Amino acid sequence: MFLNPIITADAQAVPIMDAASRLRVGKHQCSVGALSKVLAAALGLDEAHCRLIGKAAVLHDVGKLYVSALVNDKCGPHDLNEILAMHQHPIFGHAHLCAFKQTPMLKLAAVIALQHHEKFDGTGYPFGLSGDTIAPESRIVSICDVYDALREDRLYRTKIGHNAAMQVITCGDDRTKPSMFDPAVLNAMAKNHEQIRAVFDSHHPDVEAT
Ligand SMILES: [Fe+2]
Ligand SMILES: [Fe+2]
Repeated sequence: MFLNPIITADAQAVPIMDAASRLRVGKHQCSVGALSKVLAAALGLDEAHCRLIGKAAVLHDVGKLYVSALVNDKCGPHDLNEILAMHQHPIFGHAHLCAFKQTPMLKLAAVIALQHHEKFDGTGYPFGLSGDTIAPESRIVSICDVYDALREDRLYRTKIGHNAAMQVITCGDDRTKPSMFDPAVLNAMAKNHEQIRAVFDSHHPDVEAT
């Protein structure tokens, strides 16, 4: 069995990450975990809580295991059925994580998996939750997930640099609006963006520093 060094501290998570490793998204997962931990600290959360968020955030996309690779890896726009399938991954991830004995980390990971695509303004999925109905930890992971995704090459678009990614997050573009993020979390990210950049760079040595 492949053992990801990230999760050896939590034996129960091993089979989960063993499966997740097959997604070839380990770098994104680990980066989002580290970014979320740093952002949680910037928001003043206590150290133990920040550590828990960092670990739980690593598992945010585990539900993609249940979405066909043909959809996950498709180059180009998805049709409606493929979009509907993709939008199920938070529900699959939540169900997957709930199947394990619930440690505090896995309990939080299940919530984050379910809510990391919900948006503060109610425009997210799978339930269109808004504001405080989204767990604070999920609001932190959500913005880190967007930042990390913008900075990585994806099959359907090219990566952008740190300043451009911060510009998209704070000012918006055709897909992203600042109203999608918790204002306090957005503010903390903007204030601590140099730290965010450093954490991203340390997890993506292959991406040219910007
Ligand atoms: Fe996701
Ligand atoms: Fe993600």
